[in-house]
Amino acid sequence: MLPLKEKDKPIVQKLLSAGCCARCVLRFCCVTVQAAFRQAQHETLKDLRAFIADKETSKVQDSTGQSSTCETESQDAALSESDADPPCKRAKLCPTTETVQSEGGSDALENVESRVCVVCLGILQGSCGPDLAVKIAETVKAKNYQFDTLVLSISLPAQLCVREHSCWLHVKKEVRAKSLVLDKDDIIQVKEAFKWIMQGLVTKELGGVAVVGKSPFEVGMEFTHPKTESDCHFLAKSCPDCFKATKNKQSVFTRMAVVKALEKISDTRFLQMYPCPPVEPSCSCTLQDIKCLHVSVFIAGRYNKFCRSLPQTPWVIDGERRMESSVEELIAAPILSAFRADGFNFSSSGREDVDVRTLGNGRPFAMELLNPHRSRFGRAEMKQLQETINKSSDKVRVRDLQIVSREAMSRMKEGEEEKTKTYTALVWTQRAIEKEDISFINDIKELTLDQKTPLRVLHRRALAIRQRVVHSMNVRFVDSHHFYLGLKTQAGTYIKEFVHGDFGRTKPNVCELLKTDADILELDVESVDVDWPPPIPE
Ligand SMILES: *[C@@H]1O[C@H](CO)[C@@H](O)[C@H](O)[C@H]1NC(C)=O
Ligand SMILES: *[C@@H]1O[C@H](CO)[C@@H](O)[C@H](O)[C@H]1NC(C)=O
Ligand SMILES: [Zn+2]
Repeated sequence: MLPLKEKDKPIVQKLLSAGCCARCVLRFCCVTVQAAFRQAQHETLKDLRAFIADKETSKVQDSTGQSSTCETESQDAALSESDADPPCKRAKLCPTTETVQSEGGSDALENVESRVCVVCLGILQGSCGPDLAVKIAETVKAKNYQFDTLVLSISLPAQLCVREHSCWLHVKKEVRAKSLVLDKDDIIQVKEAFKWIMQGLVTKELGGVAVVGKSPFEVGMEFTHPKTESDCHFLAKSCPDCFKATKNKQSVFTRMAVVKALEKISDTRFLQMYPCPPVEPSCSCTLQDIKCLHVSVFIAGRYNKFCRSLPQTPWVIDGERRMESSVEELIAAPILSAFRADGFNFSSSGREDVDVRTLGNGRPFAMELLNPHRSRFGRAEMKQLQETINKSSDKVRVRDLQIVSREAMSRMKEGEEEKTKTYTALVWTQRAIEKEDISFINDIKELTLDQKTPLRVLHRRALAIRQRVVHSMNVRFVDSHHFYLGLKTQAGTYIKEFVHGDFGRTKPNVCELLKTDADILELDVESVDVDWPPPIPE
């Protein structure tokens, strides 16, 4: 038995005659009993017909003498016609007499089963059911994802909204005449009904995997219906502002734009421009491929770089690669294959130049792994992965490798400016030096620099002057033209420029301090003092 009430009868009647499928009829009657949608649609249709026929029977009884609301109402209507009441009032109150008795009405009912629904374009008919569940399960299994639950998402052609609106206007009269508190928003959405029907079937096909409302793993289906795409076009005339061309969309008739235009258009205007009820489609929707998507996994760690000819990110000039590898690629390759991800997004706490090494505990980095097919790794497996990266080259090593949350990643960038970094620079001096000539540098503390944007980065950064602090320095004499300069600085200090002065663009600088021309031959990052990610004990 369908959970329908007497007041639903005229609506059921009208929608079936208009060419709505049984499940769309349930939607418009706001049936929220999911089992009613799951039942085979021909059963539902049979039930709906029996439900209407029931009324007919009672009407036949009515005419044998018993008084009924219909009779009374119609007498009222007849009496008040002189008061300029709408002559259709009787039909509105007892629509069965009007529609079922008409030839067209009964013809429509006969054929409903084989016809494509005028509202859902077949989505809640043949498109949805056990066959689709099998197809979904096959796709998911073939892609070999690791997941506990899944969420189904469907994308529907935008013209469904137009058709739904047309059908709503078609029955609105009946609904209002019966003074129901039914609004368009109360109608069960196609998407919702689709999920009620499909969720259990998919669970069964996947051997018990819960299909839920929210899950990191999403199975998406896109339905299209090219033949009725032009249904939306009239809306561009009624609301040109709603349909503005955007670069990345193929069509301006997006679902959002269509919904917006439908909110703005008056009922009268709509009815002038679009048939009510909608015209019957000649075929059902087409299912484009089934797409699986797992939310990103975020991974963090610290890396060392032992090579003076390795850029941090792929180095491409005029479309041509300059170096065969990069820090991020060396780290990402083993991780991508372990997580079977489609791509990655790499970020780190600052970056080093191609010729600079990063020693000590390394530089914190984090990676977003896009669409990972595997997402859970135990501590031992993470260690294994770390070893794979360590062994894959002698240029890069990683430690503290761990899965982190998206939110935690922001901690890496937090207060980056205030963090300190320590460096060692090999400095050359033009003037011959003695140990004593440079020892005064050990005593310099909290030296504030004014750094104009270095010439070497001016092509990608705006010209500005920024202040950075060198907290402390120490020197180690090598020979009469070389010494090692250790520096502890505020993050973001341009070290090379501090040494050679960048034609006076950084002040003060080492040349100035030593009163000789000086240059930097080698630079190592000794530590990046960011306490994230947390260290992983060995
Ligand atoms: C990569 O990360 C940046 C910054 O967090 C973000 O704006 C961008 O959309 C990400 N790219 C991808 C492909 O997710
Ligand atoms: C990888 O190399 C780093 C840096 O040398 C080291 O700390 C870490 O223990 C190594 N990890 C493995 C699993 O080899
Ligand atoms: Zn339908």
